[in-house]
Amino acid sequence: MSGHLITLINGDGIGKEVIPAARRVLEALDLPLTFQDADAGFGTFERSGDALPPETIRLCEASDSILFGAAQSPLSKVAGYRSPILRLRQHFDLFANLRPAVGNGVDLLIVRENTEGMYSGRERLEDGGATAILERVITARASERITRAACEQAQRRRRKLTIVHKANVLKETCGLFRQTALMVTSAYPDLAVDELLVDTAALKLVQDARPFDVLVTTNLFGDILSDLAAGLTGGLGLAASANVGSGQIGVFEPVHGSAPDIAGQGTADPRAAILSAALLLDHLGYADQAARVRAVTYATPHTGSTAATTAGIIAALPTA
Ligand code: IPM
Ligand code: MN
Repeated sequence: MSGHLITLINGDGIGKEVIPAARRVLEALDLPLTFQDADAGFGTFERSGDALPPETIRLCEASDSILFGAAQSPLSKVAGYRSPILRLRQHFDLFANLRPAVGNGVDLLIVRENTEGMYSGRERLEDGGATAILERVITARASERITRAACEQAQRRRRKLTIVHKANVLKETCGLFRQTALMVTSAYPDLAVDELLVDTAALKLVQDARPFDVLVTTNLFGDILSDLAAGLTGGLGLAASANVGSGQIGVFEPVHGSAPDIAGQGTADPRAAILSAALLLDHLGYADQAARVRAVTYATPHTGSTAATTAGIIAALPTA
């Protein structure tokens, strides 16, 4: 097949601004890419009763990859609503969430397990609502495949891997994750492997993140540490992510949310979405174009106008 079909899901809030911006950058590259739009998010849920309608799943399945903006996640339970990004990760079994943090001398990659852990969905109330219980699910299978993915990433980088866990307290769940990760990494003698408790990892990252290369960890720890790492490198404006599995389809999304406070004003920073588009280009095999987009985007400051920042990036793209 020649060319690739990309599904664009704006989602909610500033997703409606940053995804069209990323599309303009992709279109400026003169690659054989075609685009289709699909709906998802809280707005879609309010309109149709489903945050990820079957038609959207069908469009995603028929495409090569998905660029996703943001979905608003309400702070308390809304009957029938579950975050469409979580559902997409599950639907396509996108077990690896790759979250690079680059800037201020830092160049690290968080490899976050994306399918289980504290995101098991096994949460319930007991005692008439006075006790809330969450089952944290860790499997050898998921721990193994995420560690393998992290090792492969480390081999393409500075060959250092840090396993992050809390096995001193969470003896069974983090214990299994740790044991499995250590077993997998023993088959990669070319990597320098160490381990850190998640609290120590947070401290060391804040003190000096420059020595870190690849970190592999469970779902919620990776969620939190990736925001922390983004904060170290200039904030969420530059934080991109890839959700990938063993198949072709991946979901690429900025780490930031829907930012309802600034939505609709034309001021959202489009760079995290554009860097997510660069991860998508890498995934589809357009490594040169991905590198060009990345170099220009990191070098372009956000001026406070989505349109102007996007235009600046497009103008600065070297022609092939
Ligand atoms: C992220 C987000 C999501 C997550 C939420 C919105 C479901 O915080 O992609 O980091 O927790 O994974
Ligand atoms: Mn998050």
